[in-house]
Amino acid sequence: SWFLLGRRRRRQGEPPLENGFLPYLGCALKFGANPLAFLKEKQKKHGHIFTCHVAGKYIHFLTDPFSYHALMRQGKHLDWKKFHFATSAKAFGHGSIDPAEGNTTENFHQTFIRTLQGNALDALIEAMMENLQYVMLQSRAPKLQSNTWVTEGLYTFCCQVMFESGFLTLFGKEFNSNNDKNLSSKQETERAHILNALENFKEFDKIFPALVAGLPIHLFKSAHSAREKLGEALLHKNLLKRDNLSELVTLRMFLNDTLSTFDDMEKAKTHVAVLWASQANTIPATFWTLFYLLKSPEATKAATKEVQSVLESAEESISLDGKHISLNRKQLDNMPILDSIIKEAMRLSSASMTFRVAKEDFTLHLENDFYNIRKDDVVALYPQLLHFDPEIYADPLTFKYDRFLNEKGEEKTDFYRNGRKLKHYYMPFGTGIAKCPGRLFAVHEIKQFLALIFSYFEIELVDSNVKCPSLDQSRAGLGILQPSNDIDFRYRLKCL
Ligand code: HEM
Repeated sequence: SWFLLGRRRRRQGEPPLENGFLPYLGCALKFGANPLAFLKEKQKKHGHIFTCHVAGKYIHFLTDPFSYHALMRQGKHLDWKKFHFATSAKAFGHGSIDPAEGNTTENFHQTFIRTLQGNALDALIEAMMENLQYVMLQSRAPKLQSNTWVTEGLYTFCCQVMFESGFLTLFGKEFNSNNDKNLSSKQETERAHILNALENFKEFDKIFPALVAGLPIHLFKSAHSAREKLGEALLHKNLLKRDNLSELVTLRMFLNDTLSTFDDMEKAKTHVAVLWASQANTIPATFWTLFYLLKSPEATKAATKEVQSVLESAEESISLDGKHISLNRKQLDNMPILDSIIKEAMRLSSASMTFRVAKEDFTLHLENDFYNIRKDDVVALYPQLLHFDPEIYADPLTFKYDRFLNEKGEEKTDFYRNGRKLKHYYMPFGTGIAKCPGRLFAVHEIKQFLALIFSYFEIELVDSNVKCPSLDQSRAGLGILQPSNDIDFRYRLKCL
């Protein structure tokens, strides 16, 4: 009946309630237009917990970072899977991946942890190092032949380089070894295929927020067809024609074939989901990191120096004679300045949201008080509130490359609010049980990208005074926000 009436009444012991003015939509439009401003305003009015009626759902926002762990600690009342599973099925078009519904017994989260972390990560890093250089130096070579500057959009560049390298790293190369006639024309064909996949990815990614919000994909003709084409490319029969598949993809193919009743296209769509997860946040994160670096000569200087010294101690030299640089996981882990730069860029651009759904009516215990939560209500964190809190991060809208470094030049981990040390101060990858399993690989990828850019290229913004693009809010809640416009930059090979 609340659905018909459009709003509920606050009961005793429940958090303050914002029904919004619109029936059904509630606060959805104001929230959607600028979630950060909306939540700040409600926080000012109601304090550290309040409930918003958003498009038929009741969402309890916890805004005090000292209460965040309540969400992890009271996990037995809260479900993280249902929402994720349902969203994935809706967005990518595969059947339910909830083992309770009988299509598969695969534990996806376990599969991801097993194949993106631990020893599996070393192999991913090694492949990515090779692929990034292949993409930067060979695949894009026609642009680089003369020693003149190439001008391009920075977002376009990051998109192409990260998508192509990341795709090759997870899904391997087209192989055709018994027919080795003309290597370079094969490379061109492969590149054309991947750039075509990139176009389909972008077309589909554009409407991703609408799909998460519950709109059916049939409303979006070209995005729908783009998703089907991505699925086509990732059919098992096509993947089997490729060489150097990652452990992640090999294992997922095996589990699809042995533990699921999915048909061929549904299996392929689970790979589309992995492709999307591996790219959708990494691309904008790479853009912001490089953009802020190019805006800050001080940061560039510190980063270049760190890269040089790691290359020297690894006894790697930079050359353009086809011998690639290799840096392993341990060497990449020893780059605190790049770590700080990447963190700072993601602090400024991330708008992920952590969601849990109440399995039953229960009482949520926070630090000093407690609240009644109803079954099927959502409890949510919006960490951008934390990332932009001036008490935690002085001058929060300014990029400070060394913000995450301590006096010794090592990783800084002590951040305070009200004089108290925070456990949670940086959360672009989510937190708790559903935290991004690809986070280590993601940071390594961006680091590798930067190390190579600064080793091989001279690079600068076309207009060094260009304004920082604003954050495109259309994907607020889903991860790293994209810039609302592209920025021109130029680059050329160094004379080595
Ligand atoms: C899930 C962020 C890169 C694979 C997530 C989640 C976030 C996130 C916020 C949801 C966590 C939650 O619901 O609480 C990011 C960011 C990235 C990044 C900011 C880059 C800067 C990657 C990469 C991969 C990856 C490179 C894989 C190669 C996944 C997968 C999931 C996930 C498979 C779903 C996990 C599950 O539900 O079991 N990511 N991610 N991510 N991410 Fe990432």
